[in-house]
Amino acid sequence: MTQGNRKHIEYVRWQSSYSVGNEKLDNQHKKIIEFLNTLYWTLREGMQRQVLLSILDELNDYTLTHLREEEELLKACNYPDYETHWGMHEKLKARTFRFRKRFQYDYQAEFVSDFFEFLKEWWIAHITQVDKKYEPYLKKSDMTQSDNTRSQ
Ligand SMILES: [Fe+2]
Repeated sequence: MTQGNRKHIEYVRWQSSYSVGNEKLDNQHKKIIEFLNTLYWTLREGMQRQVLLSILDELNDYTLTHLREEEELLKACNYPDYETHWGMHEKLKARTFRFRKRFQYDYQAEFVSDFFEFLKEWWIAHITQVDKKYEPYLKKSDMTQSDNTRSQ
């Protein structure tokens, strides 16, 4: 692949508007964005397969932990849209799994830049439009928990 063929990709910047009102989840989202940027710079430097694979695997491990922890918090606050939200996480996991398999056997850096673009768009849309919706529910349950602590 020549430089001229490479798609123009941009890295992601964390913005305060991405906050979901929960420090732990915000920090995890920031970390995912950091991973995406590492992937971005690695692609720009034309790094090798092994390097890309290890970044992708680290990102994937971190993502799985984050999604599970987010789901646990949503369940704990009886989030009414839990099933739909969970379904979106499952779709991301399935897509990642398919990509990872394909990339392992048919290595093309182009796949990774396409996947990077997909991930970038997915995460920004998910955080700002989907995750944002649970913000009031998490806050309400935080308040309930601190009320309980106070009354004990
Ligand atoms: Fe989510």
